[in-house]
Amino acid sequence: MGTMADASEVDAYFETTLGIGDPLLDRARERARAGGLPDIAVSPLQGAFLALLVRLTGARRVLEVGTLGGYSGTVMARALPDDGALVTLEVDPHHAEVARAVFDEAGVAGKVDVVVGRAADTLPGLEGPFDLVFIDADKPSNPAYVRAAVDLSRAGTVIVVDNVVRGGAVADPGDTSPAVTGSREVTELIAAEPRLEATALQTVGAKGWDGFLLARVVG
Ligand code: SAH
Ligand code: DHB
Ligand code: MG
Repeated sequence: MGTMADASEVDAYFETTLGIGDPLLDRARERARAGGLPDIAVSPLQGAFLALLVRLTGARRVLEVGTLGGYSGTVMARALPDDGALVTLEVDPHHAEVARAVFDEAGVAGKVDVVVGRAADTLPGLEGPFDLVFIDADKPSNPAYVRAAVDLSRAGTVIVVDNVVRGGAVADPGDTSPAVTGSREVTELIAAEPRLEATALQTVGAKGWDGFLLARVVG
């Protein structure tokens, strides 16, 4: 037996073998990098997972909190039907501008509404229901975002929260940083909310050790 491959090599193996990713998505990542945005978009395999969720749920209306350069948004918008819509919330006007260019280039701009502002301020103005919500912005606000997502949901809406594991920090009582506290608080909130059934899915890969909370609105 040879040396064990690392998690990034395994990501590369599945991306190549499953044919995940394409020149347009590569360009989206490149545009974000060239625009000076942080390299924290979902990985290609995670993006394909979000696209599958759009299809599995039959979503027509998707809400994203945290646009960045539009990588996850492009992936989800492409998986939507022609008359589907993605509303994506972004506080940073430069991020929003890069994302709009990416949505244009990917041919999904007609399905995407980029709303610029603090999500805490823009969420109350949105009209539900959404079929799928992807929460991926400032982590301390995750409890508030899940509460808002439930208010904008119908029975069956799926809510995904990114980055709740953070290298295991969520289960380390010594880590009381705001992002990690946000992960614990959102987990406790979901547990206490009878309208949500949920699990957590840990991930390893190109982005290290992290994971998602996955919840479904029961009624
Ligand atoms: N979903 C993206 C990555 C998002 S990174 C992808 O996978 O491609 C997190 C984004 O949330 C950043 O662009 C950041 O500017 C934005 N953000 C941070 N705080 C926010 C807030 N209060 N309201 C809205 N967006 C916020
Ligand atoms: C960070 C944010 C993310 O949404 C992510 O997926 C990875 C890292 C961060 O702020 O470091
Ligand atoms: Mg994230």
